[in-house]
Amino acid sequence: MIIIMRSKEQWGTKIGLVLAMAGNAVGLGNFLRFPVQAIQNGGGTFIIPYFICFLLMGIPLLWVEWSMGRLGAKHQKHNLPSILQLLSQYSWVKYLGVFSLFTNIVVAAYYTYIESWTLGYLYFSITQKFSGQNLQEVQNYFEVFKTWYHYEGIIFWLITCGLNVYILSKGIEKGIEAAAKLLMPMLILFAISLAIFALSFQKGDFGAVHSGIVGFDYLWTPDFSGIWKPKVWLAAAGQIFFTLALGMGTIQCYASYMKKDEDIALGAMASGWLNEFVEIVLGASIIIPICVGFLGLDKIQEWVKLGGMGLSFKVLPYLFSQWGLITGTIAGVFWFGALFFAGITSSLSMGLPLTSFMNDHFGWSQKKGALLFGALIFLLGIPCILSPIIFDEFDFWAGSFSLVLFAVIEIVLFSWIWGIEKGWNEINENAKIRIPIAFKWVIHKVTPIFLITVLVANIPGLIQKLLEETNPEILVARLMMMLIFFVCLYAIHKSSIHEA
Ligand code: ALA
Repeated sequence: MIIIMRSKEQWGTKIGLVLAMAGNAVGLGNFLRFPVQAIQNGGGTFIIPYFICFLLMGIPLLWVEWSMGRLGAKHQKHNLPSILQLLSQYSWVKYLGVFSLFTNIVVAAYYTYIESWTLGYLYFSITQKFSGQNLQEVQNYFEVFKTWYHYEGIIFWLITCGLNVYILSKGIEKGIEAAAKLLMPMLILFAISLAIFALSFQKGDFGAVHSGIVGFDYLWTPDFSGIWKPKVWLAAAGQIFFTLALGMGTIQCYASYMKKDEDIALGAMASGWLNEFVEIVLGASIIIPICVGFLGLDKIQEWVKLGGMGLSFKVLPYLFSQWGLITGTIAGVFWFGALFFAGITSSLSMGLPLTSFMNDHFGWSQKKGALLFGALIFLLGIPCILSPIIFDEFDFWAGSFSLVLFAVIEIVLFSWIWGIEKGWNEINENAKIRIPIAFKWVIHKVTPIFLITVLVANIPGLIQKLLEETNPEILVARLMMMLIFFVCLYAIHKSSIHEA
């Protein structure tokens, strides 16, 4: 008989747990994705579907995922296949936990690649690489930086993968928690400083053509024409999933390392609202106000159509370099520092489901699991670097669709199969805040129906995508994802879930 040495790790402190959970949620999505999504989907009006999705999907799913994690903690299970198995007597239920392995491996592959750009640009800010360059030169450099044959980009990518593996290998308390306690306060400090600057500079300061508030107004200008468009609601739902890291299995995995008597009702709200503060207040107050203030509305409108990456890496470094050596360097370090800290505290959470699964079921050490994670993000990162089409395909299936699909699965299991009575008691156990009873009904009825509607609304687009796209790179990406998916399923099949 094989004796499996399971880790006895736990979060060291309550604040460490909340900061790590907030670090999981606060990511590149808050600073780059949110402001652009808001502008593309009705500006001030976008916040209406966004908040409805937060209330009816975001908050309920946070409670559901946190409570599933604490249920795992009570049974010393730190991986989603085992946690799901606790909700049902059917042995096939464990296979549904495949999403926590598949989604995180694939998303981490391209996410760490973007994260490496932020590390690179943090270094370039310190070394003042863009000083004296014009906008076109800064833009051209970014296009080269992203290519596989440019050594600087590859070096930063390798360092980023290595840092993730190193921190992950240190485990929960000494690795992830220590990183969150150090990086999250710095991230918030950097972002608040930039937001204050962005909202307070006046026309003429450093050559600005508008005051910062003009860009802020532009972002929040309501366009009510889109409020009934399904596309706007899908965008709002997608942003809620991505920003809160729902449907990925990372929250359950983090929560499974908490103490058995932890208050999850309050913990979930603390980290969820911290994420919303960083997203709605800080995310909206930096990149768009600065870009509009210095380059004018017309130019930025074109850039916004292309997404947040261009603004961040092609426009901001140029603007910072115009502000003089000291101010420009500080702004660059704060911006790319905040992005890098946001990115790494999220990508670390994507590694834990795999390391925990390998520890729980195959007795792997944290270090060995972290090395496996590193090897996988390295191997899957290569096609993302070589082909933007593969990158987008990974993002679509693993970074968007599979989050919604798994969220439907987990809410049905939690509310309908395990049962809302048990679920509600689990959420409220040891709660120091009183959750309004209406949420019991929301979690039982509204959230599942809302999520199923979102999933069904996605189906026509999915069918169209599957029928229309036959590019060889797309097929390669899909084959790679299928391979990962089936290998993860096989690993669950071979695991010791029913032996414990
Ligand atoms: N929640 C993470 C983000 O917003 C994945 O980037």
